[in-house]
Amino acid sequence: MPGTCVIGLQWGDEAKGKIVDLLTQQHEIVVRYSGGANAGHTVVTGGKTYKLSLIPSGIFRSHVQCVIASGVVINPASLLGEIDYLAAENVPVGENLIISDRAHVIFPWHFEEDRLMDVTPSGGEAIGTTMRGIGPCYRDKVGRSLAVRLGDMYRDGFRDRIEAITAEKNRVLAAMEKGSPAKPLDAAEIYTQYAQYAERLQSHVVDTTAYLLDAVDTDRRILFEGAQGSLLDIDHGTFPYVTSSNSSGGGVSIGSGVPGRFVTKVVGILKAYTTRVGGGPCPTEQENETGQHIRDRGNEYGTVTKRPRRCGWFDAVAARYTARLSGVDELAVMLLDVLAALPELKICVAYEIDGKRVTDFPSHIDDLRRAVPVYETVPGWEEEITEVRRFEDLPVKARQYVDRLSELVGRRVGVVSVGPDREQTMFVTS
Ligand code: IMP
Repeated sequence: MPGTCVIGLQWGDEAKGKIVDLLTQQHEIVVRYSGGANAGHTVVTGGKTYKLSLIPSGIFRSHVQCVIASGVVINPASLLGEIDYLAAENVPVGENLIISDRAHVIFPWHFEEDRLMDVTPSGGEAIGTTMRGIGPCYRDKVGRSLAVRLGDMYRDGFRDRIEAITAEKNRVLAAMEKGSPAKPLDAAEIYTQYAQYAERLQSHVVDTTAYLLDAVDTDRRILFEGAQGSLLDIDHGTFPYVTSSNSSGGGVSIGSGVPGRFVTKVVGILKAYTTRVGGGPCPTEQENETGQHIRDRGNEYGTVTKRPRRCGWFDAVAARYTARLSGVDELAVMLLDVLAALPELKICVAYEIDGKRVTDFPSHIDDLRRAVPVYETVPGWEEEITEVRRFEDLPVKARQYVDRLSELVGRRVGVVSVGPDREQTMFVTS
């Protein structure tokens, strides 16, 4: 079974949606397997731009079965909002979307907890979450006793469970508010609301693990759509400035139930530069006119939160680490056009930490904070390249830049993108 996955190799927002959309043509099933409505993907199709969070972008192709698998955390209100938005755009959402009964559900208390707990234990820099209740929902999943899975909403005892959890959460929230408690959450209101969500979602809710394992047995072509980027992985990213799920390659199997050996191709997505949203170190960040140039030209503002993204030079130390971590076969270099008109470009080829040159990505955040990038400077190109359609037709300096990234990351580049449209994509064959 040719299972392919698309994984972001930086801190998210690598324009994965566009590559997923292109690859969808060759696949029958598209699976979202981790994260939640903290992710945002943009798909440009039929001359229109769509922004989705939870629903796989395969929804725009009639031959594709979309799956939201067990590793995803679901805010039913946002999911139904997306279904309604697509219906209003005449994009049908029916049997073509199935959702795992094992997926965990986000409740109003998770939003409250996200707001109250977005600090590091030492009171230092905040994680800067997307405030979508993602971390608190995953925390309850691991804690088990206060968790609700989608399938629980259709079982006897759902109302009792909501009442018990709400009472417990009200106690916790009052303690967290430290003397200025917010209005307690109303269990009856929450139950009524979620019972309505459950009813509307019911026709989509199935055992997606069984569905996907059958798909593997019958050799169907599956595309796994990663959310966020590998540097935000809860285990292998820049902890604690990470998201709460496994956003690197290993997450495919955990979040979908499909054994890793059936994923036969991994496409790693990189921007031609670096961006990061939220807190945590970003060694190559440029808080100057170069950073602003990238932000303006790349429209680097969050799809979900609209926050300005932190921008900087390409970090080959980080990208080499994540390409290896996620088992990448081939790279897609996105947004190359954004770098036009800069007289020279810098690529971070190593870090200097306490006077020592390091090329392995540090495992501890304190070391990453002290990392001073060692840059290689290469010439930039003047010409706009958004109209270029063949790799050979790019300015020599742009091609040399891509070749150098490939060499440093240690993987071949299969795709170069110079704009959001499908046509603004070059396939590199050599
Ligand atoms: P959370 O996932 O909302 O808990 O946020 C944790 C960290 O991950 C924050 O730094 C967020 O900015 C970041 N993050 C979460 N989702 C995305 C994404 O889709 N793109 C970029 N950063 C993200």
